[in-house]
Order: sequence, then C-alpha cells, then structure tokens
Amino acid sequence: MTWSVEVRRAPDPGRLAADVREGLTKTPVEIPPKWFYDEKGSQLFDEITELPEYYPTRTEAAILTEHAAELPRVGTVVELGAGYSRKTRLLLESVQPSLFVPLDVSEEPIREAAVRITRDFPAIEVRGIVADFEDELAPLPGADGARMVVFLGSTIGNLTPGPRAEFLRRVFRATAPGDLFLLGADLVKDPIRLVQAYDDSAGVTAAFNKNVLHVLARELDLDPGALDPDDFDHVAVYNDVDDRIEMRLRARRALVVPLLGLEWRISAGEELLTETSAKFRVDGLRTELAEAGFAVVTTWTDAAADFSLTLARRL
Ligand SMILES: C[S@@+](CC[C@H](N)C(=O)[O-])C[C@H]1O[C@@H](n2cnc3c(N)ncnc32)[C@H](O)[C@@H]1O
Repeated sequence: MTWSVEVRRAPDPGRLAADVREGLTKTPVEIPPKWFYDEKGSQLFDEITELPEYYPTRTEAAILTEHAAELPRVGTVVELGAGYSRKTRLLLESVQPSLFVPLDVSEEPIREAAVRITRDFPAIEVRGIVADFEDELAPLPGADGARMVVFLGSTIGNLTPGPRAEFLRRVFRATAPGDLFLLGADLVKDPIRLVQAYDDSAGVTAAFNKNVLHVLARELDLDPGALDPDDFDHVAVYNDVDDRIEMRLRARRALVVPLLGLEWRISAGEELLTETSAKFRVDGLRTELAEAGFAVVTTWTDAAADFSLTLARRL
C-alpha cells in the first residue's frame, strides 16, 4: 500500500511568537506544551515512554492488548497527537481499517510511523497529516465505513478544561453520527507516583522539559546563550486543587532575555509553566464526552485503575 504526508500547518515561528507573547502576560509565564515537540522533543518523549517510572504508556498498551479484539471494525482510523503510533498497531490488527490517518504537529514521527505501518500492514493505506489539533480538524480523510478517532497517551490531559471542551467539540464537528472516539486518559492516583512519573531518576523528563527552551532560542532567533537551559531546573508538582501535574522550569538566577523586541526579565526562583497534565475520574470523562455529543459505549481500566481507555460513539 501507499503512504503520504500532507502538511496542513507546520509549526511556524509566527505562531510560536504569538503564543510566547500571550504566555508572557500570564502569571506564571506559560509556554504551551505543543512547543516541546520538535524532532528532538518527539524523540525524548519516546524515551520517556520506556522509563520505569512512566507507567501510562505500558498500562495503556496492556489495556489495548486485552481489549483490542472487542473494538468494532471501521473503514478509517484517525489518530490525533499520534507521535510514533507505537501502541496503535495493537488496535490496527483487530480494527483492520483500509485507511490510517496519523495527525501530529511533529512531522518526523508521522513519517517514521507511515513507513513502518505501511510495511507491517500491507492492506492499510497511510495518509499522515502534519497539523495542530487546536485548529479545525475537518475535513478528515475517510474510506468506506465508519471512522474511529483515537487519542491516546492521555494527551487530552494537556488541555485545560475550556480548551478541552473546545477540542472535543472539534472532534464532534469532524466526525459523523455513529463514528467512534477512543480516548486514553490517566486517572487520579497517589500524587507520589504521579510526581515520579514526571520527574524520572535518569533525567529524561528534565531534558524533555528543557527542550522547549532550545525550540524558543532556535525558532525566535535569540542571541546565542540568551536562554540557556542550564539556567533552569526541571520541576514537577501535583496540584491537588485542579487534579493535575504541572511541569515547570525554575530559573536558577535572575535573567534578562531579549526576545521579540522585548526584555523578558525572569527573577531568580521564578517558575515558567510548560505543561499541565490533568488526571481524570471515569465519571468526569463520561460527563465531558456527553457534553460534547459523545455517548460512552464502554470504559476499560487496568486492575489498579491507573489508566482508562474509553470507547464512545458520536451522536
Ligand atoms: C504525550 S505525547 C503522546 C504520543 C502518543 N500518542 C502516545 O500515546 O505515546 C503527545 C503527542 O501529541 C502531539 N501534540 C501535542 N500538541 C499537539 C497539537 N496541538 N496538535 C497536534 N499534535 C500535538 C505531540 O507532538 C506528541 O506526539
């Protein structure tokens, strides 16, 4: 079978500049997590998925392995925030679509997955899309039969409640009645385990977090050394009011960073918010899905209820 990659909207410096300008007005200063994922960031996240502390990937893979045979067959599988689509093969074997559409802001993993999946599943055509899932998703390619939109890895947790509701409505608008939505979401649990999952002993998550500073320096043409990742510490904390992990970068010293025609003053000890990762309850997910026009068909969890996989039908 063939594969192709459509670049709908490559991550461009103009968008990054707009996000940084907006982020600078917030307290704490925020940099949206999508900017972690240049080629290096995607590779670092792939390494994170193998870490002993990072239970979400292997738990979600185990749930998929156990229940993939119960998933209905569809014509098209669309995967949002697909990355390297490593777990997706577990469901492609049973769902047997004729078309697989991985969509991600990061191009390199899409290309790698397209080659690998076309080789391993000769009956499936792969049409990758480089795009931002915070933009309108329609039109999505489709083959004969229903679509299944797949969103794994608890990437949904990186969206705060307002943008999350908007995202679910975008999925609704891009699908038709009867289409399916398969959502992987991390569940509320012991904060100590959560913090360990985002602050591993090998320092891979720290490198991933600091990668956003490399992206900023490169894409916004900063003077060499103006934003040195060594001037920051990686911090992961659990916010039990909002049920979310927060990844931050804490400045080791006061800094003045010339960027976008401004002087960005960072005080010693100041923290930049680089990612929030919400943790869910099964009932809460059901409500959020219902509000967006999806009826839950079933939710599977592992025995310890660490992670959930929810299959919902678009109304
Ligand atoms: C937490 S990783 C999950 C990767 C993979 N789905 C998994 O389960 O291992 C998040 C993925 O979403 C992608 N991503 C993040 N923000 C995005 C956005 N706004 N639009 C499209 N892709 C995005 C990243 O490039 C990355 O591949």
